[in-house]
Amino acid sequence: MKILTVIGARPQFVKAAPVSKALRAAGHEEFLVHTGQHYDPQMSQIFFDEMGIPTPNVNLEVGSGLHGWQTAQMLMGIESLLLEQNPDWILLYGDTNSTLAGALAGSKLQIPIAHVEAGLRSFNRDMPEEHNRVLADHASDLLFCPTQVAASHLANEGITRGVHIVGDVMYDAVLAFSALSEEKSTLLTSLNIAPKDYSLATVHRPANTDNPENLHAIFEAFRELDENIIFPVHPRTRGKIADLIDNIEEFSPKLRLIEPVGYLDMLSLEKNAKRILTDSGGIQKEAYWFQIPCVTLREETEWVETVESGWNTLVGADKEKILSAVENWIVPKKRPNVYGDGHAAEKIVEILGVKIAE
Ligand code: UD1
Ligand code: UDP
Repeated sequence: MKILTVIGARPQFVKAAPVSKALRAAGHEEFLVHTGQHYDPQMSQIFFDEMGIPTPNVNLEVGSGLHGWQTAQMLMGIESLLLEQNPDWILLYGDTNSTLAGALAGSKLQIPIAHVEAGLRSFNRDMPEEHNRVLADHASDLLFCPTQVAASHLANEGITRGVHIVGDVMYDAVLAFSALSEEKSTLLTSLNIAPKDYSLATVHRPANTDNPENLHAIFEAFRELDENIIFPVHPRTRGKIADLIDNIEEFSPKLRLIEPVGYLDMLSLEKNAKRILTDSGGIQKEAYWFQIPCVTLREETEWVETVESGWNTLVGADKEKILSAVENWIVPKKRPNVYGDGHAAEKIVEILGVKIAE
């Protein structure tokens, strides 16, 4: 039986790695489509190399552009491939424009859709991802939720059929690649930085990058923290920082902007950080799994469990709140295991297998 998988952006490579492996191990045929949404080698190819993701059967090479244009290019490309390949299922991940394009293409051709990371909600409709997730969930036939909370969101929207709580595939990936990261990553040595002597930062949400006031407040907070900060810069953010600050070294000598890193280096950076400051979705959870305090540079999060347990603090792009979250952080007593048992991928494949056999 045949599954056509659509991926295109960095977090989707991480999510697809364990599922793709499990699908193939179970003997299913996977036709892997890369939309080309992310294309820099450090945003794409490095994940295929390090995580052993099979080379995509097709790369649509759509690239960057306005959301409507980008989604439309992907939709046209995926539609042609669905007609050509005639898969039993189309498999989608997360909430990017690549996810939405896959959902639209599948639903137009009435090909059953399976959505991994279904039911996540920020309840912030200013985020493009919130529209993508709601639309993808409502088009899907199988909805793989990482948590109970995600399944409740779906129920509140009237979606109860085809919903399965399987755990988080990103947790599978962390467990699968942690040891390899320890073995292979030499980044701390090459950065000449000691474990726990730095914070790790990432910023890429439009609410932060495209609003100079917010980006400025975040950088002012980083400067006032007056500690080593390693900051792998997303390409979206690179130009925005340059517009704002002429000379980073003069602005804050302890702030080190580096190129985006591969997954193995990222796990090492996360594990050895004394804290993480981020607006990434995936990195909030990775901080939680490694029990590293996280300060989230957003007003809200989809990953509410990390906040409720005390490991994550939401601060938005507010300088005082960022500084206060760092200063007043208290080690939480517990870190409940709410993201599954590290076998989400196998569960997904098992459920897909049953559906295919029906
Ligand atoms: C996308 C997703 C977001 C996800 C993020 C993960 C949407 C709407 N957004 O945001 O949910 O959290 O990926 O990283 O799908 N660029 C490059 N090289 C690349 C990729 C992007 O230079 O390889 C630059 C381009 O200038 C591009 C900009 O980054 O315009 C934004 O890329 P895009 O894929 O549109 O959105 P992201 O911000 O990456
Ligand atoms: N990541 C990485 N290198 C980086 C930044 C992120 O390998 O320089 C990984 C990170 O560990 C996580 C995923 O990419 O697994 C998250 O992607 P991103 O923050 O781009 O997207 P989001 O999760 O916010 O959608």
